[in-house]
Amino acid sequence: MERQNIYILGIESSCDDTAASVIFNGRILSNVVASQKIHEAFGGVVPELASRAHQQNIVPVVHEAIKQAGISKTDLNAIAFTKGPGLMGSLLVGTSFAKSLAFGLNIPLIDVNHMQGHILAHFIEEDDFEKPPFPFLALTISGGHTQIVKVNNYFEMDVIGETIDDAVGEAFDKSGKILGLGYPAGPEIDRRAALGNPRAFQFTKPRVKGLNFSFSGFKTAVLYFIQREVKANPNFISENLNDICASIQYTIIGILIDKLKLATKQTEINHIAIGGGVSANSGIRQALKDGEHKFGWTTYVPKFEFTTDNAAMIAMVGYLKYLEGNFAEQNVVASARLKI
Ligand code: KG4
Ligand code: ZN
Repeated sequence: MERQNIYILGIESSCDDTAASVIFNGRILSNVVASQKIHEAFGGVVPELASRAHQQNIVPVVHEAIKQAGISKTDLNAIAFTKGPGLMGSLLVGTSFAKSLAFGLNIPLIDVNHMQGHILAHFIEEDDFEKPPFPFLALTISGGHTQIVKVNNYFEMDVIGETIDDAVGEAFDKSGKILGLGYPAGPEIDRRAALGNPRAFQFTKPRVKGLNFSFSGFKTAVLYFIQREVKANPNFISENLNDICASIQYTIIGILIDKLKLATKQTEINHIAIGGGVSANSGIRQALKDGEHKFGWTTYVPKFEFTTDNAAMIAMVGYLKYLEGNFAEQNVVASARLKI
């Protein structure tokens, strides 16, 4: 298809962020996210509350994205939305809103896989950011996902490893909960880890075959360790918090890096791109950088706002699908367990 001037509105509502973004030929004009603070009090995302908050947020968030882009909704060429994976109640809000808007404006509707979005966020047009060359490996790590994907092309991806239970973000958050930290605990563990000794305490790494991950055993190991130590010394956590955080983070990073080493060996691909909220972790970023001279990797880390859940990545996939004329029908349905 001949390159034209294309405006795409992206809508993301798969979990607890209501987001909308307008991109113009792959370049961001606006990227609006309303994060739902309500879940903090519950120590995790409450699906019922998430969908209700999406319903409240979606109209103002979309309105704001179009306004900040400096365009009118009639300038839009297509509406892209997250079809899945995610929480069904949350996905339904974005899906039905996108359908109605596309229908009302009489423009194409484009369904987007959220995980492809995290990966293709690397192709958002940004000055000073190098795009990974095909084929590359994508490590997507967040509160809901942990995957290693072999990316052959924009729309040809193979999941070569994934978690068989908890996501890596849950390993951070649940460990934090055991330590009495707020939700989500990842950022605080990261901050404290920088002040502690990563070798102060040892946690065994799970033994999972091949490129798959498991984090539920790790969380239990942290729980038993803390229970045992607190029995002996009730002040154990407060006296050792930074060291505990550093040791937890060190173990998690070790698990990720071991699998990446295996993946690069098996695929003979040394280009690694990361995405998802956990890729904000400074220890993980450092370990990837170290991998450049230790293992000959080239690593790609997107801007922070494109690593956490956002709609710019959804709009980006929408743009790439638009160029291929790959549109959805009005009867498209959300899919909580959508696969890549
Ligand atoms: O991608 P995201 O914003 O939402 C989804 O889960 O899809 O990721 C949130 C996750 C949470 O588990 C949070 O604790 C974790 O990312 N996280 C971090 C850091 N910043 C966010 N984990 C470790 N270190 C961080 N600096
Ligand atoms: Zn995500």
